[in-house]
Amino acid sequence: MDSGKRNFDQDAARWDLNPARVKLASEIGSAILREISLLPDSDVLDFGCGTGLLTLMLQPHVRSITGVDSSQGMLDILNRKISERNLTNVITRYADLDQGDVLSGAFHLAVSSMTLHHIRDVAPLLKRFCHLLHPSGLLCIADLDEDGGRFHTSSEGVFHFGFDRQKLARQFEEAGFQNVRAVQAASVEKPVAGTMQRFTVFLMIGRK
Ligand SMILES: C[S@@+](CC[C@H](N)C(=O)[O-])C[C@H]1O[C@@H](n2cnc3c(N)ncnc32)[C@H](O)[C@@H]1O
Repeated sequence: MDSGKRNFDQDAARWDLNPARVKLASEIGSAILREISLLPDSDVLDFGCGTGLLTLMLQPHVRSITGVDSSQGMLDILNRKISERNLTNVITRYADLDQGDVLSGAFHLAVSSMTLHHIRDVAPLLKRFCHLLHPSGLLCIADLDEDGGRFHTSSEGVFHFGFDRQKLARQFEEAGFQNVRAVQAASVEKPVAGTMQRFTVFLMIGRK
């Protein structure tokens, strides 16, 4: 685990060129669409939206979706997609929790894909999500099951080597969420030290 922050700006231009990343985001989006009912008048927050792979998958199903990220480079790519596709219901916002920025707004659903392991202190963020959600609003977080640090080739900016589902579920509950459950959303195969290894990604869902 690392104490520094990864600079995602340098990865932004090539982010979507990695088919494994695109497939992973697509599987996570499919899991969300399968596991919850998205209503057409929903306002959604995508925390750590990156280039918007998940944001744009959910966008056709909702009234608005706000993508928040601490990398302006990632947001620039998403902003380009928004203007190329003339999308009027996608909003982007720069916010870096590590710099003291505070998430704001009011949402029916908050989602986050593969970002939680980059957040040093998870508990305050979960509480903030709860605060931002309307009553009965849902939180859906997708991230790695415990991986022993093998998933990332560099541990720069990785504050959690995946998550123990039971412990994270307790943190959801402590933050104010009920009916917390997790399903497997995706699996990723990648070579680690010359051998193929399989990593699983959960989707944890809680209701305010
Ligand atoms: C692994 S990427 C995932 C991007 C996207 N959700 C996807 O699935 O393709 C993690 C994202 O979280 C963002 N991020 C990391 N730390 C953050 C923080 N403290 N505040 C806001 N965003 C953060 C990064 O800039 C990056 O875009």
